[in-house]
Amino acid sequence: MKNGINGLVRIPRHVAIIMDGNGRWAKSRGLERIEGHAEGARAVRDAVETASRNGIQYLTLYAFSVANWARPRAEVEALMGLLVEFAQKERAELRQQGIRVNVIGTLEDLPTATRHAVEDLIRYTAEGDRMTLTLALSYGGRQDIVEAARSLAVRAKAGLVLPEEIDETFFHRHMTTHELPQVDLLIRTGGETRVSDFLLFESAYAELLFLPIMWPEFRPETLLAAIEAYGGKERRFGMISEQVQGLLPIQAFDPLDRIQS
Ligand code: IPE
Ligand code: IPE
Ligand code: MG
Repeated sequence: MKNGINGLVRIPRHVAIIMDGNGRWAKSRGLERIEGHAEGARAVRDAVETASRNGIQYLTLYAFSVANWARPRAEVEALMGLLVEFAQKERAELRQQGIRVNVIGTLEDLPTATRHAVEDLIRYTAEGDRMTLTLALSYGGRQDIVEAARSLAVRAKAGLVLPEEIDETFFHRHMTTHELPQVDLLIRTGGETRVSDFLLFESAYAELLFLPIMWPEFRPETLLAAIEAYGGKERRFGMISEQVQGLLPIQAFDPLDRIQS
């Protein structure tokens, strides 16, 4: 990277990646889709290491969506097997790098062996304080929102939550993403320009980057270039440029003082 990432470039705190394109990568080489997933696991290793070395605090990877259960059984089984392999092979290295593994989605949906391997990985890396690596497993953004709403409804009915307490922060505490800050940079490989039910609530103001390369082609330089591109963006969160730069004050919305027509 031209400037090096050492304070000259603004680093996103939370990067989320939709790792798409494993199947097409394999097919275009005359390989089985599952070989694309195996190659994708290698790209994961590079992405994790590059993210943690460059000061990213949260890296969230879309590994398996709720919708992916509908794929052919052999592919799903192979993916579950690869997860076990990843958890067992990588745990020492992850712990050594100070990376803590976290999961969003429904871990209980996974086959027992996969769930145990992932739970072991979570326990084994629990002390890591350099970066949080979150794996989205049997994850769906809409499902996560709906389940939080349902659990709040149950608590409200029992008198444990007052409706007026429920604001965005409170709501987020009831989602499986409760440990994560909002997404700063959302990257999707594979050439599609959709979010496929990933982090719908948490990416409200994320910068989106869609890359034409397939996930197995993702390299450390790909992430560095993405971080650099992010550093050049002005995030206005609904305001105007002068306000973000501190040249004009930020107005607080006051319903009692709202503009009358
Ligand atoms: C993403 O790659 C990995 C998972 C969904 C697990 P795909 O398997 O979706 O690859 P393509 O999009 O078919 O090429
Ligand atoms: C998104 O990719 C899910 C993961 C990367 C785990 P998909 O390949 O499942 O998404 P669609 O079906 O193309 O939208
Ligand atoms: Mg895909």
